[in-house]
Amino acid sequence: MSEMAERAPSSVALESWPSPLRTVSGAPVPALAFGLGTRHRHVSDDVTANALRAALHAGFRHIDCARFYGTEAIAGRVLAEGLVPRRELFLTSKLWMTHHDDAGVAESVNASLAALGLEYLDMLLIHWPVAWTRDSDPADKARGVTPRADVPLVATWRAMERLVAAGRVRALGVSNCGVAELDEILGSDPAVRPTINQVECHPQCAQTALRDACAARGVRLACFGPLWPQRAAAEGGGGGAAAGSARVVAACAAAAAAHGRSTTQVLLRWLIQRACMPVTTSSNPERVRQSFGALDFTLTDAEMAAIDDAGARAPFRRYNPLGWREPPDALWFAPDDIDASESRPSQAQSAGSPRVVLNS
Ligand SMILES: NC(=O)c1ccc[n+]([C@@H]2O[C@H](COP(=O)([O-])OP(=O)(O)OC[C@H]3O[C@@H](n4cnc5c(N)ncnc54)[C@H](OP(=O)(O)O)[C@@H]3O)[C@@H](O)[C@H]2O)c1
Repeated sequence: MSEMAERAPSSVALESWPSPLRTVSGAPVPALAFGLGTRHRHVSDDVTANALRAALHAGFRHIDCARFYGTEAIAGRVLAEGLVPRRELFLTSKLWMTHHDDAGVAESVNASLAALGLEYLDMLLIHWPVAWTRDSDPADKARGVTPRADVPLVATWRAMERLVAAGRVRALGVSNCGVAELDEILGSDPAVRPTINQVECHPQCAQTALRDACAARGVRLACFGPLWPQRAAAEGGGGGAAAGSARVVAACAAAAAAHGRSTTQVLLRWLIQRACMPVTTSSNPERVRQSFGALDFTLTDAEMAAIDDAGARAPFRRYNPLGWREPPDALWFAPDDIDASESRPSQAQSAGSPRVVLNS
């Protein structure tokens, strides 16, 4: 594996990577997902519904949901309009940390299916590999204390496998997991292997080693926060990292100009050419349409390398998975919304600061 990491180029042919996701009709899912979290937790139902309609019209087929987002009922209403047949869609949902126990897993999936108006989920992810007690969220969040529940990751996985056997879920995966968590699941001789690990990833948080470790295990990296450098640069957040974000954006803008594209499309394309699946979002239908244009052009090796280089010089990470193994009171929770003051250099790089932002 280390040998693979050493020789892994930045760009990887998509065909050579773990098999693409497929809808129930057998069609490959475009390597770009539309998310209904983050921004959509803070806009009106109508705004989210219109953005989702725009996403479906544009060609998005993979919709990234979660119980935590509170937007599954809105998605259900739009899906019921029948813009795209169910068998051509790929719907992902996630278990929140309060629902890792047997009963909680079933309850969460039943609630997702009812809200979405679906018979099955295409993919179920463990949102974070940390179990909380049922009543710990959200009130305790403000106090920064979240009692852990004693539910091993593998027990949660077994409960998820039972839902696959029952036909309620078609594939399983994880989110915010490192190699240790993946190996915990893989080492338990699972009946259903993980397919996806959804993590923060953008040029300033390239996750190359994790991507390669996942690929060696047949797991594909799905990447949230793909546009973070653009946002950090525009809002001036992140202290020293903001200047680095500006250099990443400049490298992307240069490539965008050469291809007649936008910086957003280049940031998404950079991930796709690294065999990663961006999970992006917007509340603005025109931006949603524009994002889907990341699929039909190719960055040169030199453009990829320039973006790699600019990102590597200014590491920045918003969500810190290093906090997972820490005692509960070491966890720290940011306000739900994201503003410039929250943009900060990598928590992972601040020694002795095992804090984690869980407002996904
Ligand atoms: N598994 C997890 O723990 C986790 C964590 C975070 C996110 N996620 C998933 O990933 C999805 C995307 O996450 P994200 O919000 O961090 O993604 P992102 O795609 O990096 O950022 C989306 C933000 O970028 C803005 N934006 C979009 N297009 C733009 C453009 N052309 N120009 C300027 N700004 C633009 C949007 O604002 P406007 O609405 O104003 O366009 C939105 O606020 C979420 O919805 C969720 O489904 C998962």
